[in-house]
Amino acid sequence: MTVIEGIVEHGDQRGRLLGFPTANITVSDEEVSDGVWVALVRLGPGRWAAAAVSVGRRRTFYGETGPKLLEAHLLDHNEDLYGQEIRVELQVKLRPQQAFPDVQSLTEQLHHDVQQACDWAASHYPGLVSAASTETSATGPTSSNMSYA
Ligand SMILES: Cc1cc2nc3c(=O)[nH]c(=O)nc-3n(C[C@H](O)[C@H](O)[C@H](O)COP(=O)(O)O)c2cc1C
Repeated sequence: MTVIEGIVEHGDQRGRLLGFPTANITVSDEEVSDGVWVALVRLGPGRWAAAAVSVGRRRTFYGETGPKLLEAHLLDHNEDLYGQEIRVELQVKLRPQQAFPDVQSLTEQLHHDVQQACDWAASHYPGLVSAASTETSATGPTSSNMSYA
């Protein structure tokens, strides 16, 4: 299992606009290969969250030249993690990174990724996701149950 530890940095806030805010960590090719994953994220002593995690260069927006980032969209958490150290344990790979033709296609795929992450967490770590988020995941996340600061 790949484990990444790092300090959360500010993204460019686009994730919030898309409805999928992320906690971002800069990573290198040596540490982790690109992809989309379900992960467990340690927020602090005894505090864990499930997450849909992207590792890559946001090719939809930056081609092959963007900085390589790990971006964790936490399920059922609503807090600003900027400046905090987190530990990310990649559990299951969902798919490779893609360059989408437009923002709508990316957003539709993100809904699907988050639904898969919710379903996986509900069956493996039910304490980490609320019943509400697994019920509503069929129609996509809502600002009340899936987003954080
Ligand atoms: C679960 C997940 C999967 C993602 N997959 C892709 C992808 O396949 N291609 C891509 O260009 N960006 C992908 N992204 C990154 C988004 O483009 C990025 O989070 C968004 O542009 C917001 O960027 P920001 O954090 O800098 O605001 C993914 C993000 C998440 C949370």
